[in-house]
Amino acid sequence: MLAIIGGSGLLQLANLDVSRREVLRTPYGEPSGAVTFGQIRGRPVAFLARHGYGHVIPPHEVNYRANVWALTERGARAIVAVASVGGIQPDLKPGDVVIPHQIIDYTWGRKSTYHEGRDSAVVHIDFTEPYDPGLRVRLIAAAAAAGVTVSDSAVYAVTQGPRLETAAEIDRLERDGADVVGMTGMPEAALAREMGVPYAAINVVANYAAGRADSRTGVRFDAIEAVLEDAMSQVRAMIEKLAENWKDGDDPARS
Ligand code: HPA
Repeated sequence: MLAIIGGSGLLQLANLDVSRREVLRTPYGEPSGAVTFGQIRGRPVAFLARHGYGHVIPPHEVNYRANVWALTERGARAIVAVASVGGIQPDLKPGDVVIPHQIIDYTWGRKSTYHEGRDSAVVHIDFTEPYDPGLRVRLIAAAAAAGVTVSDSAVYAVTQGPRLETAAEIDRLERDGADVVGMTGMPEAALAREMGVPYAAINVVANYAAGRADSRTGVRFDAIEAVLEDAMSQVRAMIEKLAENWKDGDDPARS
């Protein structure tokens, strides 16, 4: 089963033929909301809204452990994370869709591992490639099949939020090598790796990052909603193609 975690602008999957919703409890507390199960193009898909269904949970308060655990426990064989981002790299403009290939984590104080406490073994995961390469290839192919133009690589900087960045912080992220900036990519990606579930992301550029282009003197929130609404229809089309070609039992890492 394919699982989708939807972010800002993707509180539900309009093309999901819903069969049931389940409120799950996990050893790590409650997920952001009920998990919606259904089918897209006849393939089983689960959906979870990262910020809750009324968009009520800010990035630093999302229970990432419970979300990833719940989806995995319910049979997710791959997780596709959808998240909006600010564009740092000058070629990226609002509405652009990006499949990131790397992460720089600037978050702090989040519960970022399942392995903690005296009773837990010391576990180190390999995270050289934070996104599953096979799942990324499938996402890029799904975009092509859906006629959606995507940037097929980007370095995603994850900031703590919930405030946006200062212009100087964005300059620093750029010097560090970041192309886009968001607040939710971590620890989600690392937790999926700990659970052994292939994970990849679709980022939608919602705005120019602070201090850049239109956002030179400030990020305007009023334009963001319309940008996301438009771009999310492209994301839905990509997910539809991904689902259409999905066979359970597939191991994306080997494709
Ligand atoms: N910064 C951080 N997170 C974001 C942004 C941004 O500019 N836009 C959307 N998510």
